[in-house]
Amino acid sequence: MKYIAQPQISEEEISLVAHTIRSKSFVEGENARTLEKEFATYVGAKHAICTVNGTAALHLALEGLNIPPGVEVITSAFTFIASANAICFGGGIPIFADIDPSSFNVDPEKIEALITPKTKCIVPIHIFGLPANMKAILDIAEDHKLTIIEDACQAHGGRIDGKHVGTFGDVGCFSFYATKNMITGEGGMVVTNNDELATRIRSLKNHGRGPSGGYHHHLIGYNFRLAEPLAAIGLIQLRKLPKMLEQRRKNAEMIRSTIMELDSLNAQTIPTGVTHSHYICAPVIQDPKFSVDEVIKELHNRGIGSRRIYSVPCHQQPTYLDGIKTWRWNKFVNYPDYSKVRLPVTERIAHSHFEVPIHPGITSDEVAAIQNALKEIFSSG
Ligand SMILES: Cc1ncc(COP(=O)(O)O)c(C=O)c1O
Repeated sequence: MKYIAQPQISEEEISLVAHTIRSKSFVEGENARTLEKEFATYVGAKHAICTVNGTAALHLALEGLNIPPGVEVITSAFTFIASANAICFGGGIPIFADIDPSSFNVDPEKIEALITPKTKCIVPIHIFGLPANMKAILDIAEDHKLTIIEDACQAHGGRIDGKHVGTFGDVGCFSFYATKNMITGEGGMVVTNNDELATRIRSLKNHGRGPSGGYHHHLIGYNFRLAEPLAAIGLIQLRKLPKMLEQRRKNAEMIRSTIMELDSLNAQTIPTGVTHSHYICAPVIQDPKFSVDEVIKELHNRGIGSRRIYSVPCHQQPTYLDGIKTWRWNKFVNYPDYSKVRLPVTERIAHSHFEVPIHPGITSDEVAAIQNALKEIFSSG
């Protein structure tokens, strides 16, 4: 439990990877196609297209939807920076809406307040694996004719009334980074129900080739293909995903019950009908007499992994305060002055959270040790 995350790799992954390498299959092929087929079935989407990572999945989604330069894309700042950077790749302008204090996900009312004639797209992020309020977001998108790209990079297994996240909007993006609920090491997936969009994204990720491959190219594309040995890992991981999610849920529920008992701590609220995929458990300190750094130190002293994650939200990252001034699109696009952006809820949560392990590799004794540590630390203040 020293580690916040730990890939769950067994002989099954190792043997399929070995078989794949022995067959000299390195380039996207049978494993990748099977992974796409099974992932599409798992999430309930018509198409799944594997990619080199989750960032590339977001990049492809934006480019697939033809989001042009200068267009405003509303998202949240309490996330991994890739969510915002992907918007910039094609000249889009990230507009950060504040989050809801109970979910840490984008607050739909704050989205609505930021819509201008330049807004064309919303990128809700299912942060820590908790589905965002998709019903409200879909209503806003419909009213204002906006497209939706779901950043489900942290939310394999997240559902709303049984429907998997990533399938509510026009397109959904997943990451298989080494810490995620299922992994390939580096890897990702785009899902959509739109046939035309799927064809375009398949082409964009493969140098603009058509379905027959070869050396005929139709679009300016990229090489965002997933290596075949990594697809082999993903295939086994996907088949193990329900079991790994069940273990995460058990661990998270125990630890969350302790968090809820302690007056000075809070956790994400899970609305009725919503399935949290429990990628991350990050309690928020409510009582200023406890310092996040001290708490993390106390947990480390007890052999428990802990860290701040998004303590610097995107709008306060040097990337958006300074780096954006030298970004190639800055000559053509009017970015806001991000130093003037104020997101009180985002900033409060960013400064008061810390992560504790809930991954499927921890034992029930270790879960109990985490519960005891939280009780000791937060009852002693
Ligand atoms: C919310 C979010 N968006 C995007 C990404 C980018 O995914 P990747 O690291 O696979 O490029 C991540 C992953 O780490 C993420 O957590």
